[in-house]
Formats: sequence, C-alpha cells, structure tokens
Amino acid sequence: MGFGRPSQPATTRIATARAGSNIAFIKYWGVGDVTLNLPLNNSISMTLGDLYTTTTVEWLHPRLLGADEVSIDGRVQTGKAAERVVRHLDRIRAQAGSVDRARVVSRNNFPIGSGIASSASGFAALTVAGCAALGVNVERDRLSALARRGSGSAARSIYGGYVEWERGTDDRTSIAHQLYPADHWPLLDIVAVVNAGEKAVSSEDGHRLALSSPFNSARIGTLPAALSEVRAAIATRDLQRMGPIIEQDALAMHAVMMTSSPSLVYWQGGTVDLINAVRRWRTEGILAYFTIDAGPNVHIICEEAQRMPIMERLRALPNIHQIIVSGPGDGPRLLDTHMV
Ligand code: DP6
Repeated sequence: MGFGRPSQPATTRIATARAGSNIAFIKYWGVGDVTLNLPLNNSISMTLGDLYTTTTVEWLHPRLLGADEVSIDGRVQTGKAAERVVRHLDRIRAQAGSVDRARVVSRNNFPIGSGIASSASGFAALTVAGCAALGVNVERDRLSALARRGSGSAARSIYGGYVEWERGTDDRTSIAHQLYPADHWPLLDIVAVVNAGEKAVSSEDGHRLALSSPFNSARIGTLPAALSEVRAAIATRDLQRMGPIIEQDALAMHAVMMTSSPSLVYWQGGTVDLINAVRRWRTEGILAYFTIDAGPNVHIICEEAQRMPIMERLRALPNIHQIIVSGPGDGPRLLDTHMV
C-alpha cells in the first residue's frame, strides 16, 4: 500500500493509521447517489498536517469478539455514530472476504463535530488502518473510493498536500488524486473556533438537501470556471487569485444550505463578525481569505508572513473560543504504536 508499513507477523491483525483532516477550497456539497456517496461536483482541498485522527483497528475472530466495538476520543460509541463506523467496517470486511469483528479506537487532536472535518480524517484513518490490519493490499485510488463511502471528504484525506476529488460517475471513477504535495505551497489554515459544540444537522443529512435549494444549480454552474481558477492559482501559488474564489464558493455553498428545505443555517453571530473582520484586514494589507465548512467556525487561509498579525487581531476579538493553526500535511501513514 506504500504507507511505510512497519513489518509485522501475519498473525497480528492490528494496525494504526494517522490521517489529516482537510479544508476544501472548492466545496463538496450535495450528494447525487446516496448509496455510493457520489457528489454533485468536483472539490479541491488541502490536507492538514496538524489536525489529524489516529485510529487503531484490531480484527478478532467472532469467537473472541461478538460485535464490533468503537471508541472515539475515549467514549464508547453507540447509536448512529457507531452504526456509521460498523457500516464502513462491513465495506472493509467485504474487500477481504472477512467475517472478523473489529475493535476500533480513534482519537482526534481537535474538537469534533464543529465544521472541522473529523469525518474526513476519521474515515481516512479507519480505511487505511482497517485494510492494513486485514493485510489486504488495496491501491491508493481504491482506498480513496472506499474512504468516500464512509465520508465524502475522506476520499481527499487519502492523499497529502493539494487534492482534487473527481465527481466521477461510479464507484471506480469517483476518487481523489493529488494535485501537488504538501511542500509545494506552505499555506496556513487558521481556524477561529466560534463554537466547538456538535452541530445540529450533520453534513451527511445536509448533503441530501442540496438539490432542494433553487440556488444549487446556480452554484454548480459556476464550478467549472472556479475549479480551473483554483487549480491554476495553486499551480502558481497565487493566493490573490485563489482567495476571492474560495470565499465566493463558501458563500455560495452556505446560500444553498440556507435555502434548502428544510433550511440549514450553520452560521452564528461570531461567524459573520469574522467574515467582516477578514475583509477589513485585507484593506489593512493583510492578505487572507475565509472559508467555512458545515459549521460556524471560520477558516482563515493565508501565508506564513500573515500568521502573527492575524493571531494578534484574532486574540483582540471577543467570542473566539480557540484558535487552531495548521499547514498542509502528508497523506495517511501507519504507526508502530497501537491504542488497544
Ligand atoms: C462542508 O465529507 O463531512 O466540509 O460524506 O456526509 O461525511 P459526509 O460529508 P462530509 O462533507 C463535507 C462538507 C464540507 C465541504 C467539504 O469538505 O468539501
């Protein structure tokens, strides 16, 4: 699989993988085929080096473990969250023709459920660890397709650096690929956390509502040009070219969310304050642009030279609970130390 696999005896059916979250510059919003998780549009993201999930998967014979067990951030999962992981374990089992049960222990180093995509890093790490522990040799684009079934944005976290997920038309073609490695462009994502609570409507449910918005087709119509601009801006490391497009697409996605039936409003007051602040800072010579996922938190995209002035300004604003900074990172890797 090419993840720098430490050697292990064939009898050991355990593996641990670490995968970075990612921040999309052109967003995935809206699902066409719910079963295969085929998106309505291509998306482009940067894999994050400092916001990641580490997941251990241990496979055991059903005699030793009656049912899959899932623990995330120290809590045993039940209900919807556990079912979603078990459905993904079923897909991994199907790859290997296995009936084993899994013990899954997963930890995030950032608040989950708040618009920082824990599902991206979580399902990427689960896919890589789950397949490695079963000893199945899965090509990287197949891992991306498999991760996509767990969570759309996880398809992109199978690669490091700058990544595009092709919408595709079926399970084989809806996969991500790397545009450039992490060291191509050391951008920063400064996440201003307005609220770290769980969001009321998951993106999984939200994606199904996109087609109900009259603005969805208008947004999709803008994307061929936006995607090629973002690709070109990344190629030439041109933030001034990329920034206005990523802001526009984040706003277009939230316009779709707000005008879906039922309507989804992820923003809070602090979100709007930050949008205005970033725009004001630009008039003061700070080259930075915002993007917002399915939550209230604002991701500020800039280069290293702007880190300090932005941090100072953020610290002076009220109602910011946490500031998290990440540069681009590499794709998933296997670790020697396990958590079970
Ligand atoms: C707004 O990948 O979290 O962050 O496939 O249901 O897990 P599921 O959705 P998810 O959606 C991401 C939505 C987004 C935009 C993006 O990351 O492209």
